[in-house]
Amino acid sequence: MNIGVIGIGEIGGTLAARLAAKGHFIRVTNSRGQAAVEEFAKEIGAQAADIYGAVDSAEVVLLCMPFPVVATLPKDLFDHAGDDVIIVDVANYYPDVRDKRIPEIDDGLPESIWVAQQLGRPVFTHIPQVNR
Ligand SMILES: NC(=O)c1ccc[n+]([C@@H]2O[C@H](COP(=O)([O-])OP(=O)(O)OC[C@H]3O[C@@H](n4cnc5c(N)ncnc54)[C@H](OP(=O)(O)O)[C@@H]3O)[C@@H](O)[C@H]2O)c1
Repeated sequence: MNIGVIGIGEIGGTLAARLAAKGHFIRVTNSRGQAAVEEFAKEIGAQAADIYGAVDSAEVVLLCMPFPVVATLPKDLFDHAGDDVIIVDVANYYPDVRDKRIPEIDDGLPESIWVAQQLGRPVFTHIPQVNR
C-alpha cells in the first residue's frame, strides 16, 4: 500500500520501518520538512516528503505525532487526498502528564471525534486511554 507517516519518533519511526520492510511504499515526514527526514527515509527504504507529500497520494495516513499537534496541522492538508484515504491516529491523550488539556475531550467528547473535527475527515484511533 501507499502509506504516509507523519511523525517519525518512537512509534512513527518504528511503524514506518516495519511497513517499509514488508514492502509497502512509505513516505515519511516530521515537523521540519523533507530535508530533515532524508537520512531516516534512506535508512529504512522509504521516501522523504513534506507534510503534503506524505498525504497527497496516500491510501493510508498514519498520524504519529503528540496528540494535540493534530490541531496545528494545515487546514488544507487533506484537500487533495483521495476521498477514501484511511487516516489512523496512533496518539494517546495524556492530559497534564504530557499534553495540554483539551476541554472538549475532558467534557466527554471521544478523542476520535475531536481529531476528526481538527482534520475535517473521519479518522480511526486506537482504544482510548482510561487513565485521565
Ligand atoms: N498507539 C500506540 O501503540 C502508541 C505507542 C507509542 C506511542 N504512542 C503515541 O504516539 C504519539 C507519539 O509518540 P512518540 O513516542 O512516537 O513521540 P516522539 O518520539 O516525540 O515523536 C513525535 C514525532 O511527531 C513529529 N511531529 C511533531 N509535531 C509535528 C508536526 N507539526 N508535523 C509533523 N510532525 C510532527 C515529531 O517531529 P519533529 O522531530 O520534527 O518534532 C516526531 O517525529 C504519542 O501520543 C504517544 O502516546 C502510541
